[in-house]
Amino acid sequence: MKNQPSDFGRQTEFSLNQFPSSQASIGVFDSGVGGLTVLRELYRQLPNESILYFGDTARLPYGTKSQSEILQYVREILAWMVQRGVKMVIMACNTSSALAIETVRSEFPTLPILGVILPGARAAVQVGKRIGVISTPATAASNAYRDAILEVDPTAEVWQVGCPEFVPIIEANRIDEPYTYQAARDYLEPLLEQQIDTLVYGCTHYPHLAPVLKSLLPRSVQLIDPAVHVVAAASQELDLLGLKQSRSPRPTEFCVSGNPQPFIKISRQWLGCTPLVQQVSLPSVIWKSIALESESTSF
Ligand code: DGL
Repeated sequence: MKNQPSDFGRQTEFSLNQFPSSQASIGVFDSGVGGLTVLRELYRQLPNESILYFGDTARLPYGTKSQSEILQYVREILAWMVQRGVKMVIMACNTSSALAIETVRSEFPTLPILGVILPGARAAVQVGKRIGVISTPATAASNAYRDAILEVDPTAEVWQVGCPEFVPIIEANRIDEPYTYQAARDYLEPLLEQQIDTLVYGCTHYPHLAPVLKSLLPRSVQLIDPAVHVVAAASQELDLLGLKQSRSPRPTEFCVSGNPQPFIKISRQWLGCTPLVQQVSLPSVIWKSIALESESTSF
């Protein structure tokens, strides 16, 4: 049945029948190399865990796509990860967390799914009151960070800036170019005018730009990388579920939907080694919502 469209109702039953073991991998996904900033934190904080990393490089950038497109991509990735037997998924992608997490949590009820936005928002209010968020246009338009921050601290002030140039710059490995500094200056300007005291990397790609951003920000501005905090949350969740791995991990499995070569080149710099990267096709999932499924008695 490989590569045949799957009925999601059956995918759900499949996931319900699984009893994940602590030895199963944690699934981590992003549109591309952004999730490597989360992977780095996983290696640091949870060194015994085995990881299945997926970069949807054939369809990046996510940050300029519509909500329905993002939702469909995320459903396909999660269905594939469930088939691969993961015990938990970390959405190492703010855009997916902003636009799809609530829906897919209800559609994959037995799979622990963690997003980056709430852990990032909680961390930001610990250090600041005037909070800037740089993100993809889709994340900024969703107001997911503003809502999450104000829910935790209604007295905080939040300014969000969508930065459409950043992901293409990072995926093309153009970080050190003058053009990148100019784009960063333009995006930071409205936030510096507001005298922010805290800046959240609202896209997992952006820590790759840390040298550029730090050179343009006053030293008093605290930088928040939600990757650090989502991995801390994952660690707690694994403890709660009794799913933490205590033995040595398997090598990280890297999979991408597009050409592996650009991903290998950029991730080599970030990881300090050359990863083995496999190109995979996601199963196409014919979607029926849970609501529609439950109205039907036929499955
Ligand atoms: N790194 C992702 C995020 O955090 C996706 C960026 C993109 O593909 O636009 O939003």
